[in-house]
Amino acid sequence: MEPITTIAELRSFVQSCRLSGKRIGLVPTMGALHAGHLSLVKLSHEQCDATIVSIFVNPTQFGPNEDFARYPRTLENDLHLLESTGSPVVFVPCADEMYPTGFDVSICVGGISMPFEGAVRPGHFDGVATVVMKLFLASQADVAFFGQKDYQQLCVIRKMVADLNVPIEIVAGRTVRESDGLAMSSRNRYLSETERSRAGVLSQSLAAAERMIVHENTLSSEIIRKAIQDQILSAGGMTIDYIAIVDPVTLKELSTIDTEAVILLAVRLGTTRLIDNVLVSVENWQAHR
Ligand code: PAJ
Repeated sequence: MEPITTIAELRSFVQSCRLSGKRIGLVPTMGALHAGHLSLVKLSHEQCDATIVSIFVNPTQFGPNEDFARYPRTLENDLHLLESTGSPVVFVPCADEMYPTGFDVSICVGGISMPFEGAVRPGHFDGVATVVMKLFLASQADVAFFGQKDYQQLCVIRKMVADLNVPIEIVAGRTVRESDGLAMSSRNRYLSETERSRAGVLSQSLAAAERMIVHENTLSSEIIRKAIQDQILSAGGMTIDYIAIVDPVTLKELSTIDTEAVILLAVRLGTTRLIDNVLVSVENWQAHR
């Protein structure tokens, strides 16, 4: 499979799709693909006539002390995986193609990009929003697919699309997990064997919190946060960046869960940062009682 490397080539592919009335789906990634990414590609194949997968380790979304240099780059394997998932068109630009000399414009999302990941990683979401907007414009996609795994990122993209009237539909894919519940991530490969064996506690603590909320009707954020924190710390080796119980749209912290909430968490395990979340709906559960 020969990837497309320039925006000009991508544009001419897109133009031919447009002429034949095809619905175009875009799956933006940074590569090191796993089943989570592939589930988004599958969604696109199901909902679109042509699928573009972009692979670009975007330098502007990494802070100076983050893992840009060591971020896994596994292009050959990625292309093999994509070939077995219906052979989408793959767009693999180099940094100069995306950010030519003199590049000087960026997208800045306020409000929801500030807390949580935004607070720990200043500038991260501006980098994400800018590259995603460039990919939207280069691909002219009708629909773009993002994982719920990166919940705040999904909200930032939705906000950008709404506020700037970007003519694209955003579809969220559910989080794909390993057998112990760990959310798949390109960064999981950084974990040592001991760290990996501990990492399952993140999703397990979120699942336990969901049970507390929907089965035991515990609706106090403080009590739920404390239960998650205790379970994570008891596994050992982890420091918690944040555990937050928030409104699913505004990401404002809730003191009590009313109908719906998202529980967001981020921890450090050795030198690796892991994030996870769960969307909890009290209403749905009560409706099905
Ligand atoms: P990356 O981490 O490669 O993720 C690409 C897409 O895959 C994102 O939408 C992410 O939420 C989704 N994804 C990751 N792990 C997943 C899992 N376990 N289950 C389901 N979906 C999962 O997110 C980025 O790249 C970048 O920030 C990007 C949007 C490409 C901009 O550079």
